[in-house]
Parts: sequence; C-alpha cells; structure tokens
Amino acid sequence: MQIQQNFSLKPYNTFGINVQAAYFSNFASLDELAELTEFCHKKNKLPQLVLGGGSNVLFTQDFRGIILKNELKGIDLIKEDLSYYYVKSAAGEDWHRFVLFCIDNNYAGVENLSLIPGNVGASPIQNIGAYGVETKDVFHELEAWHLQDKKLVTFAAEDCKFAYRDSVFKTKYKGQYVITSVTFRLLKQPVYQTNYGAIEQELTAMGITELSIKAISDAVIKIRKSKLPDPEVIGNAGSFFKNPTIPASRFESLKITHPTLPGYPAVDDLVKIPAGWLIEQCGWKGYRKGDAGCHEKQALVLVNYRNASGIDIYTLSNEIMHSVETTFGILLEREVNII
Ligand code: FAD
Ligand code: EPU
Repeated sequence: MQIQQNFSLKPYNTFGINVQAAYFSNFASLDELAELTEFCHKKNKLPQLVLGGGSNVLFTQDFRGIILKNELKGIDLIKEDLSYYYVKSAAGEDWHRFVLFCIDNNYAGVENLSLIPGNVGASPIQNIGAYGVETKDVFHELEAWHLQDKKLVTFAAEDCKFAYRDSVFKTKYKGQYVITSVTFRLLKQPVYQTNYGAIEQELTAMGITELSIKAISDAVIKIRKSKLPDPEVIGNAGSFFKNPTIPASRFESLKITHPTLPGYPAVDDLVKIPAGWLIEQCGWKGYRKGDAGCHEKQALVLVNYRNASGIDIYTLSNEIMHSVETTFGILLEREVNII
C-alpha cells in the first residue's frame, strides 16, 4: 500500500475527467483500509472517497481528500440450501467478471445484469439494474466498514432500503461506509427473465431454441453493445439521469399534448417515463458543444468526446434538465454521483 499525492484521476473515472486527488491509495485488505482510516483521522479528518471502477461518478473539481481505491478480491461459495447458492464476493471484484463466474458455475439470477461496468462493491449503492433485474432481487447481505467508528457492520436486505437506483448508501449513510463484501443468493433452478426490452427478439435473432443463463447473458451483451457507448472509446457513465415517475393522471393529461409519450407501470400507481425519450424530443440527441455531448444512439447518456471538463458535462446536464422541465413539466434527477 502506497499513498500517492497530487494524483491524476483521469484513468480512474469512465468519463475520463482530468482532475487531481490530493491523496490516492489502493487497499487490498481490511488491515490496509483500517490503516488508511487512521491516516485520515491523523490528517485532521481528511475527506475520504471510495472508488470502484469510477463508472458512476462525475468529478467537477479536484478532490481535496484521499481516494480509497478498492482492490479487495475473492469470490467464494459460502453455503447452499435446497434452492439457493450463497456466493460471497469481495467488493473490489469486477462486476461483469462476477457475473461470468456465476454463469460458468450455473448460479442463476445475475445473467440479465451482464456487462454493467464497475465493481461488485458498488452494485448495492444504486441497486444496479438492467433488463428487468436489480441487485435487490439477488441480494443476501453485505459487510461494510464504518469510517468513523472503524468497525465492520453487516447489512441485511431490509437495512439497505433498496429502491429504483437507490439505497441507504446514497442517502442517509452517504459517504459513511466502505462496502467490503456482498453475498448474493443465487438460484439453483433458473427463472428466466426474457420479457424485458429486446431480449426475446435478440434470442430469436441468435437462433437460440433452448434457453440458458448463458444465452440470456449473450443476448443482453449484444443489445448493450449495440446501444451504449464503450467508455474505453468515448467517456461516459451510462444513464446520466434516472427515468422519472409521474402519477397516472398526469401521464394521461400529458398524452393529450404528446400522444406518443411512452410510459410503463411503476410502483404506487405511478407511470415510469423513459428520460431518453423526453431528452430526444427536446432535440438534444447527438448534440455536441466542445467535447461535451449527448450520445447519438442513446440520449440518456452524456459523453466526453475527449477533453471536456466535469463542469462542461454538468452544465450540459443543467441545460437538458431545464429544457425537459420547460417542455414537459417533468424535473429529471441525476443518476450519476456528482463529486
Ligand atoms: P464508482 O463509480 O467507483 O462509485 C459510484 C459511487 O459508489 C461513488 O459515490 C462511490 O464513492 C461509491 N462506492 C463505490 N464503491 C463503493 C464501496 N465499496 N463502498 C462504498 N461506496 C462505494 N448502472 C446500472 O444500474 N445499470 C446499467 O445498466 C448500467 N449501465 C452502464 C453502462 C455504462 C457504459 C456505464 C459507464 C455505466 C453504467 N451503469 C449502469 C452505471 C455503473 O456501471 C454502476 O453504477 C456501477 O455499479 C458503478 O460501479 P463502480 O465500481 O464504477 O462505482
Ligand atoms: N428512448 C428514446 N430515445 C433515446 C433513448 C431511449 O426514445 O435516445 C426511449 C425508447 O422509447 C426506448 C426507451 O426509451 O424504448 C427505453 O430505452 P432503453 O431500453 O435504452 O433503456 P433506458 O430506459 O434508456 C434503462 C436504464 C439502463 C439499463 C436499461 C436496460 C435507467 C436510468 N437506465 O435505460 O441503465 O441498462 O434501462 O434495462 O434506468 C444506467 O443506469 O446507467 C443504465 C444504463
């Protein structure tokens, strides 16, 4: 473990924003994490930010504290019962590597979440979701290090208050814990989720006649690759905004002025509207100003073509929010963590 100073974060965030951290260190064990916590206390409670793959953050300024880069590794089957495998993964494992490990071992449930960038440790933070499945559907428990109390705490599913792109780690406990491991409850008998989006269509196009978790994973990977920009090529953090929900009555009245407005039933009798549609209707899709832009295939994804600053991207997000609110009366909420 080595603490570095005035460290560029450009390779550590998928937006590719070039900011500096006053301090930066990896940690590969709980002891190293505890040592770093101690270092921060001695340095007048230096601000700490844990980073996984950096695929859901937008840095708008230099970070004046220490970046704790999670390198905790290891995946283990810790128990099984009649219906489930309980698989514990260290938080620093790559999410997609974990998904592939599950598929190889016939542990079912995470196949629809293939190819989501980032680390296992971040998966409960915003309850990652795609193609009809969310972390909460396969979650058993997690362990997290409390930065102030310097102790390890276990969280069961109900403690995490999972919701659409949300959990206690984004709200009441924001910045207080470092998730060190997550245990997933995976099915012995798969229950295939193929009714979301273009999965059925993609499976047919691939000539799949017998379903398997591998086939679903392959289909999801194909769909994602066709729609979403690869951060290795164009900087981005996936969906920049959440899909908003509005009351059914408001949806019906908006349909009068915007007859093609799409909407899907959501919890509490609300209707979920695809933010990508709202943004496209306002004319932003494919827009570029300097190196900041709105992706040409997926309007929900803001991109850094090369040298945009975090402020450039943030300013563009403000302009988009303003125009969607003026046109539809709907206030978008950012999904990406602004630092
Ligand atoms: P980071 O960006 O490193 O961190 C995100 C936040 O979590 C930060 O606030 C950080 O401090 C905190 N954090 C990270 N690790 C820990 C930890 N161990 N303990 C405590 N706090 C921590 N998301 C979806 O839900 N569905 C998608 O389909 C999806 N598609 C994407 C596609 C692309 C191309 C990209 C670039 C992103 C996409 N995302 C998607 C967003 C992103 O992949 C997820 O949010 C992912 O979980 C972020 O993981 P990370 O390790 O990169 O987190
Ligand atoms: N749409 C448009 N124009 C666009 C983009 C989308 O009109 O430019 C409309 C279309 O009607 C389309 C609908 O939006 O049918 C939904 O689009 P898509 O299937 O691409 O999904 P999304 O709602 O834009 C959400 C998640 C993604 C996740 C996919 C698949 C959010 C904020 N985003 O995107 O998650 O991968 O569904 O489940 O919920 C992420 O969180 O970073 C992310 C990529």
